[in-house]
Amino acid sequence: MAGDAIISLRGVTKSFGSHTVLEDISFDVPRGRISAILGPSGTGKSVLLKNVIGLLRPERGEIWVDGEQIVGMGEQDLYRVRRKMGVLFQDGALFGSMTIFDNIAFPLREHTKKPESEIRAIVEEKAGMVGLLDHMRKYPGEVSGGMKKRAGLARALVMEPEIVLFDEPDSGLDPVRVAYLDELVRKVQEETGATFFIITHNIPSVMRTADYLGVLFRSRLVQFASKEEMRASDNPIIRQFLAGRARGPIGMDEMADDETELEQELVAQEDELFGDDEPEIMTV
Ligand SMILES: Nc1ncnc2c1ncn2[C@@H]1O[C@H](COP(=O)(O)OP(=O)(O)OP(=O)(O)O)[C@@H](O)[C@H]1O
Ligand SMILES: [Mg+2]
Repeated sequence: MAGDAIISLRGVTKSFGSHTVLEDISFDVPRGRISAILGPSGTGKSVLLKNVIGLLRPERGEIWVDGEQIVGMGEQDLYRVRRKMGVLFQDGALFGSMTIFDNIAFPLREHTKKPESEIRAIVEEKAGMVGLLDHMRKYPGEVSGGMKKRAGLARALVMEPEIVLFDEPDSGLDPVRVAYLDELVRKVQEETGATFFIITHNIPSVMRTADYLGVLFRSRLVQFASKEEMRASDNPIIRQFLAGRARGPIGMDEMADDETELEQELVAQEDELFGDDEPEIMTV
């Protein structure tokens, strides 16, 4: 395992029945940085995240978290390792019947015996970090989508995790709110020094936030490297994905092997708009 890696995957393979979702995945997530895994819908990004948290077990391979191999680990040890991780699920996964304050306080009340005064201090510190102090008494149904994400982020931070995992943090937000959330993610990462691991298919967002990127395609990890290396990659899958174009090896459906007539028609239609030159990869 690389010395400065906080998460390492080695040959991870995960199938559901005869469907292999992840095949022989290996990469190292550098400690204290922001890494992102990108990939078309249905490539197994969420499955990958669940393997790292230990909610799913791969058939083969090793997953190292902060120096410990978690595949095959007993529940008690897994629970201990999991406490190093905060997770921001898609849509924030807040409890609708609890105020924002109680939602953020939930992990502290559930997993620690801290007195209420200390819980209040921690919750207010994290809520302050994400700009939610004025909305603590509201219920999730009374606040905007962006506020729900920020509450989810504050809740992911209350246990002082070394690793924060995000599953599509931008889903359901407009581009301006995504830009704010991206800047908040960077700010919070700098302030906490934690390792951030983001699963997404939002390229502009990743180009702003991530230091390292990996691209999943057809159950394989095509490449995992620094953002600069990925931008300069001459791999056609990576170039197509980072440019967000229809023309290229990635087709319309993740499961289909042959290019359909409709697909060819849509690629031709896109070429009319953008030309059929080498796709441009955005720089931010
Ligand atoms: N518990 C499960 N049982 C069976 N199949 C599953 C299970 N979880 C995921 N899959 C399958 O694994 C594949 C990858 O799913 P996953 O949710 O990881 O994709 P994703 O990359 O996160 O997609 P999206 O970008 O749409 O969120 C899909 O084909 C899905 O149907
Ligand atoms: Mg997903």
